[in-house]
Amino acid sequence: MYVLGIESTCDETACAVVQDGQIILSNEVVSQSELHDIYGGVIPELACRRHIDVIVPVCEKALQQANIKLEDVDLISVSNGPGLIGPLLIGVNFAKSLALSLKKPIVGVNHIQAHLYAATMQKDVPFPCLGVVISGGHTALVVMHSPYGPYRLVSETVDDAIGEAFDKVAALLELPYPGGPKVEQLAMEGNPLRYPFKAGHVKNKPLHFSFSGLKTNVLYAVKGQNGKKNSESLISTSDKKDVAASFQHTALTDLVNKALLAAELENCKAIVFGGGVSNNQRLRDMLEVSSLPVYFPERSLTLDNAAMIAGLGYHRYQRYGQEDPLKLSVLTRIPF
Ligand code: KG4
Ligand code: ZN
Repeated sequence: MYVLGIESTCDETACAVVQDGQIILSNEVVSQSELHDIYGGVIPELACRRHIDVIVPVCEKALQQANIKLEDVDLISVSNGPGLIGPLLIGVNFAKSLALSLKKPIVGVNHIQAHLYAATMQKDVPFPCLGVVISGGHTALVVMHSPYGPYRLVSETVDDAIGEAFDKVAALLELPYPGGPKVEQLAMEGNPLRYPFKAGHVKNKPLHFSFSGLKTNVLYAVKGQNGKKNSESLISTSDKKDVAASFQHTALTDLVNKALLAAELENCKAIVFGGGVSNNQRLRDMLEVSSLPVYFPERSLTLDNAAMIAGLGYHRYQRYGQEDPLKLSVLTRIPF
């Protein structure tokens, strides 16, 4: 079964063709990061315009790369949330138009669940496992009973997502957007123990996350006590390396400790990571101490992509059948 995946939840326009939920025949992604870089974050209106410009050529390229024609597609799978309303509407309406005009079935896929699915593709993961969602918009621990659910939420962030914290710290250090990879790079040359930063503990919820206090720790280290976002930086280039390393060390240690504890408490047989922050090599190295098997997505599947959408869509179709293309709606927020 050839599944055409479509992804446009934020600032990547992506289309992919995946066979039977596993075999990736093409995986095309056009990133807009250079467009949003000067603003330090995604501007939804600009993102929409770029999605409109590129979605048709990206789709054509994905079909060409997979060496199939539009008529050969058996199912259309589109990410219908969570995400930014405008960008979501473009991908979903494009997918609906294709489904209606070609008379092909369509399914809507949860973008966050698809990030977790990415780590299980072409792997024999034992279940139940703990899914660790670490993206720019979400941070959550969930128990997964198969690569395609059901899922049970264990904990989540009460404020910033971990990727968002990386991006905000990058902005404080005057690094370009998206900041995660840049902070990781700078951290490689810094001392992770120089600054005594702290990740948040949520009262009576030991597995929940809070990164906004950590972000403020970094703000004060860079701009002085009670400094503001727009205040001048008071530290040297070498101090910045230590700030990046100390922030990364604090955020990742908190994440790893809570994930390992949750996996133990929930009797999980493995840990699966999904979302952009799973690209971080330091995180991958830290997980080497885990007594449970740990699965990360292939590098080409860590950031937003449509192969994970096509893959999960295949299973949703097998389990629940197609959706009515006229009723499929976009959801900016979806509970797990
Ligand atoms: O999953 P994703 O592509 O988009 C969302 O669904 O949000 O994740 C993007 C996030 C950004 O916040 C980005 O800074 C972060 O993932 N990220 C990283 C790394 N690569 C991407 N964070 C830390 N280290 C990295 N190497
Ligand atoms: Zn994502």
